[in-house]
Amino acid sequence: MTMTTASIDRLVVGISGASGVIYGIRLLEALKRLGIETHLVLSKAAETTLAHETELKPAVVRALASQVHAVGDPAAAPSSGSFRTDGMIVAPCSVKTLAEIATGATTNLLSRAADVTLKERRRLVLLVRETPLHAGHLRNMLTVTEMGAIVAPPVPAFYARPASLDAMVDHTIGRVLDLFGLDAGLAHRWDPKGRAG
Ligand SMILES: Cc1cc2nc3c(=O)[nH]c(=O)nc-3n(C[C@H](O)[C@H](O)[C@H](O)COP(=O)(O)O)c2cc1C
Repeated sequence: MTMTTASIDRLVVGISGASGVIYGIRLLEALKRLGIETHLVLSKAAETTLAHETELKPAVVRALASQVHAVGDPAAAPSSGSFRTDGMIVAPCSVKTLAEIATGATTNLLSRAADVTLKERRRLVLLVRETPLHAGHLRNMLTVTEMGAIVAPPVPAFYARPASLDAMVDHTIGRVLDLFGLDAGLAHRWDPKGRAG
Protein backbone atom coordinates (compact mmCIF):
# COMPACT_ATOMS: atom_id res chain seq x y z
CA MET A 1 0.00 0.00 0.00
CA THR A 2 1.36 3.43 -1.00
CA MET A 3 1.44 5.97 1.79
CA THR A 4 2.63 9.52 1.25
CA THR A 5 2.34 12.45 3.63
CA ALA A 6 3.60 15.36 1.46
CA SER A 7 4.48 18.26 3.76
CA ILE A 8 1.29 18.09 5.78
CA ASP A 9 1.86 17.94 9.54
CA ARG A 10 -1.27 19.24 11.21
CA LEU A 11 -4.93 19.33 10.13
CA VAL A 12 -8.15 20.43 11.78
CA VAL A 13 -11.00 17.94 11.34
CA GLY A 14 -14.60 19.05 11.83
CA ILE A 15 -17.42 16.55 12.09
CA SER A 16 -20.84 18.18 11.79
CA GLY A 17 -24.32 16.73 12.05
CA ALA A 18 -24.99 15.79 8.43
CA SER A 19 -25.63 12.15 7.68
CA GLY A 20 -22.42 10.21 7.11
CA VAL A 21 -20.52 10.55 10.39
CA ILE A 22 -18.56 7.52 9.17
CA TYR A 23 -16.71 9.82 6.75
CA GLY A 24 -15.26 11.77 9.65
CA ILE A 25 -14.32 8.59 11.49
CA ARG A 26 -12.57 7.05 8.46
CA LEU A 27 -10.78 10.32 7.86
CA LEU A 28 -9.44 10.42 11.42
CA GLU A 29 -8.32 6.79 11.13
CA ALA A 30 -6.50 7.47 7.85
CA LEU A 31 -4.78 10.60 9.16
CA LYS A 32 -3.68 8.71 12.26
CA ARG A 33 -2.13 5.99 10.08
CA LEU A 34 -0.35 8.70 8.11
CA GLY A 35 1.06 10.18 11.33
CA ILE A 36 -0.65 13.54 10.86
CA GLU A 37 -1.50 15.58 13.95
CA THR A 38 -5.28 16.07 14.04
CA HIS A 39 -7.35 18.63 15.92
CA LEU A 40 -10.94 17.45 16.16
CA VAL A 41 -14.07 19.55 16.62
CA LEU A 42 -17.23 17.47 16.89
CA SER A 43 -20.54 19.34 16.79
CA LYS A 44 -23.43 18.55 19.14
CA ALA A 45 -25.52 17.38 16.17
CA ALA A 46 -22.68 15.05 15.14
CA GLU A 47 -23.05 13.28 18.48
CA THR A 48 -26.70 12.71 17.56
CA THR A 49 -25.90 11.31 14.09
CA LEU A 50 -23.17 9.17 15.64
CA ALA A 51 -25.77 7.59 17.92
CA HIS A 52 -28.22 7.07 15.02
CA GLU A 53 -25.75 5.80 12.46
CA THR A 54 -23.22 3.77 14.48
CA GLU A 55 -22.79 1.84 17.71
CA LEU A 56 -19.85 4.06 18.68
CA LYS A 57 -19.66 6.42 21.65
CA PRO A 58 -18.26 9.94 21.11
CA ALA A 59 -15.26 9.04 23.31
CA VAL A 60 -14.20 6.38 20.79
CA VAL A 61 -14.22 8.94 17.97
CA ARG A 62 -12.42 11.53 20.09
CA ALA A 63 -9.71 8.98 20.88
CA LEU A 64 -8.82 8.86 17.17
CA ALA A 65 -7.68 12.50 17.20
CA SER A 66 -4.40 13.88 18.51
CA GLN A 67 -6.29 16.66 20.26
CA VAL A 68 -9.97 17.39 20.79
CA HIS A 69 -11.47 20.87 21.15
CA ALA A 70 -14.92 21.52 22.60
CA VAL A 71 -17.27 22.93 19.97
CA GLY A 72 -18.45 25.51 22.47
CA ASP A 73 -14.96 26.79 23.30
CA PRO A 74 -14.38 30.05 21.42
CA ALA A 75 -10.83 30.29 22.81
CA ALA A 76 -9.56 26.89 21.62
CA ALA A 77 -6.39 26.84 19.49
CA PRO A 78 -8.09 26.47 16.05
CA SER A 79 -10.12 29.64 16.67
CA SER A 80 -7.00 31.71 15.98
CA GLY A 81 -5.08 32.09 12.75
CA SER A 82 -1.88 32.29 14.76
CA PHE A 83 -2.31 28.55 15.46
CA ARG A 84 -0.56 27.15 12.41
CA THR A 85 -2.25 24.32 10.52
CA ASP A 86 -2.05 22.89 7.03
CA GLY A 87 -5.80 23.19 6.54
CA MET A 88 -9.14 21.78 7.60
CA ILE A 89 -11.59 19.13 6.44
CA VAL A 90 -15.26 19.09 7.47
CA ALA A 91 -16.53 15.53 7.03
CA PRO A 92 -19.47 15.43 6.74
CA CYS A 93 -20.50 19.08 6.41
CA SER A 94 -24.13 19.98 7.11
CA VAL A 95 -25.84 22.73 5.13
CA LYS A 96 -26.16 24.61 8.43
CA THR A 97 -22.39 24.63 8.94
CA LEU A 98 -21.95 25.42 5.23
CA ALA A 99 -24.24 28.46 5.66
CA GLU A 100 -22.26 29.69 8.67
CA ILE A 101 -19.00 29.39 6.72
CA ALA A 102 -20.51 31.11 3.68
CA THR A 103 -21.73 34.10 5.70
CA GLY A 104 -18.94 34.31 8.26
CA ALA A 105 -21.62 34.38 10.97
CA THR A 106 -20.00 31.56 12.91
CA THR A 107 -21.75 30.31 16.04
CA ASN A 108 -19.32 27.66 17.26
CA LEU A 109 -15.70 26.53 17.11
CA LEU A 110 -16.27 24.29 14.10
CA SER A 111 -17.47 27.03 11.75
CA ARG A 112 -15.06 29.55 13.35
CA ALA A 113 -12.10 27.23 12.63
CA ALA A 114 -13.29 26.93 9.01
CA ASP A 115 -13.59 30.72 8.78
CA VAL A 116 -10.05 31.05 10.14
CA THR A 117 -8.80 28.50 7.61
CA LEU A 118 -10.23 30.62 4.79
CA LYS A 119 -8.96 33.95 6.13
CA GLU A 120 -5.45 32.49 6.46
CA ARG A 121 -5.76 31.21 2.86
CA ARG A 122 -5.29 27.62 3.94
CA ARG A 123 -6.97 24.67 2.29
CA LEU A 124 -10.55 24.03 3.43
CA VAL A 125 -12.40 20.97 2.12
CA LEU A 126 -16.12 20.56 2.84
CA LEU A 127 -17.86 17.21 2.36
CA VAL A 128 -21.26 18.86 2.05
CA ARG A 129 -24.00 16.27 2.41
CA GLU A 130 -27.62 17.12 1.70
CA THR A 131 -30.13 16.19 -1.00
CA PRO A 132 -32.01 17.61 -2.77
CA LEU A 133 -30.54 21.10 -2.72
CA HIS A 134 -32.34 24.45 -2.84
CA ALA A 135 -30.95 27.62 -4.38
CA GLY A 136 -29.66 28.84 -1.00
CA HIS A 137 -27.54 25.71 -0.55
CA LEU A 138 -26.17 26.04 -4.07
CA ARG A 139 -25.43 29.76 -3.56
CA ASN A 140 -23.61 28.99 -0.32
CA MET A 141 -21.50 26.36 -2.10
CA LEU A 142 -20.60 28.91 -4.78
CA THR A 143 -19.82 31.54 -2.13
CA VAL A 144 -17.41 29.31 -0.19
CA THR A 145 -15.82 28.19 -3.46
CA GLU A 146 -15.24 31.83 -4.41
CA MET A 147 -13.64 32.33 -0.99
CA GLY A 148 -11.20 29.47 -1.66
CA ALA A 149 -12.88 26.42 -0.14
CA ILE A 150 -13.23 23.13 -2.01
CA VAL A 151 -16.72 21.64 -1.92
CA ALA A 152 -16.33 17.88 -2.21
CA PRO A 153 -19.69 16.18 -1.62
CA PRO A 154 -19.28 12.52 -0.62
CA VAL A 155 -20.67 11.13 -3.87
CA PRO A 156 -19.80 7.48 -4.59
CA ALA A 157 -17.60 6.65 -7.59
CA PHE A 158 -19.12 3.61 -9.23
CA TYR A 159 -16.17 3.13 -11.59
CA ALA A 160 -14.32 1.86 -8.53
CA ARG A 161 -16.93 -0.95 -8.31
CA PRO A 162 -17.20 -0.76 -4.52
CA ALA A 163 -18.16 -4.11 -3.06
CA SER A 164 -19.25 -2.63 0.25
CA LEU A 165 -20.18 0.60 2.01
CA ASP A 166 -16.71 0.53 3.59
CA ALA A 167 -15.08 0.48 0.17
CA MET A 168 -17.30 3.36 -0.98
CA VAL A 169 -16.40 5.48 2.06
CA ASP A 170 -12.70 4.64 1.77
CA HIS A 171 -12.58 5.74 -1.87
CA THR A 172 -14.18 9.09 -1.00
CA ILE A 173 -11.76 9.66 1.87
CA GLY A 174 -8.86 8.69 -0.38
CA ARG A 175 -9.94 11.33 -2.91
CA VAL A 176 -10.26 13.94 -0.13
CA LEU A 177 -6.72 13.14 1.02
CA ASP A 178 -5.60 13.60 -2.61
CA LEU A 179 -6.60 17.27 -2.23
CA PHE A 180 -3.85 17.60 0.39
CA GLY A 181 -1.30 15.55 -1.53
CA LEU A 182 -1.78 12.69 0.93
CA ASP A 183 -2.10 9.04 -0.06
CA ALA A 184 -3.26 6.46 2.44
CA GLY A 185 -3.81 3.89 -0.30
CA LEU A 186 -7.59 4.24 -0.05
CA ALA A 187 -8.52 5.63 -3.46
CA HIS A 188 -8.98 3.30 -6.40
CA ARG A 189 -7.04 4.78 -9.30
CA TRP A 190 -8.75 4.94 -12.64
CA ASP A 191 -7.18 2.63 -15.18
CA PRO A 192 -8.51 3.30 -18.69
CA LYS A 193 -7.10 -0.05 -19.92
CA GLY A 194 -9.24 -2.05 -17.60
CA ARG A 195 -11.46 -1.71 -14.60
CA ALA A 196 -10.30 0.43 -11.67
CA GLY A 197 -7.57 -1.45 -9.80
C1 LIG B 1 -30.04 11.40 11.58
C2 LIG B 1 -29.84 12.80 11.09
C3 LIG B 1 -29.41 13.00 9.80
C4 LIG B 1 -29.20 14.30 9.30
N1 LIG B 1 -28.73 14.44 8.04
C5 LIG B 1 -28.42 15.67 7.59
C6 LIG B 1 -27.81 15.82 6.30
O1 LIG B 1 -27.55 14.86 5.58
N2 LIG B 1 -27.45 17.06 5.92
C7 LIG B 1 -27.66 18.16 6.71
O2 LIG B 1 -27.28 19.26 6.30
N3 LIG B 1 -28.27 18.05 7.92
C8 LIG B 1 -28.64 16.84 8.39
N4 LIG B 1 -29.22 16.70 9.62
C9 LIG B 1 -29.57 17.91 10.37
C10 LIG B 1 -28.40 18.52 11.14
O3 LIG B 1 -27.94 17.62 12.13
C11 LIG B 1 -28.88 19.84 11.79
O4 LIG B 1 -29.16 20.81 10.81
C12 LIG B 1 -27.87 20.38 12.77
O5 LIG B 1 -28.38 21.58 13.33
C13 LIG B 1 -26.52 20.66 12.13
O6 LIG B 1 -25.69 21.26 13.09
P1 LIG B 1 -24.11 21.31 12.93
O7 LIG B 1 -23.84 21.77 11.54
O8 LIG B 1 -23.68 22.30 13.95
O9 LIG B 1 -23.59 19.95 13.19
C14 LIG B 1 -29.46 15.42 10.12
C15 LIG B 1 -29.92 15.22 11.44
C16 LIG B 1 -30.10 13.92 11.91
C17 LIG B 1 -30.58 13.73 13.32
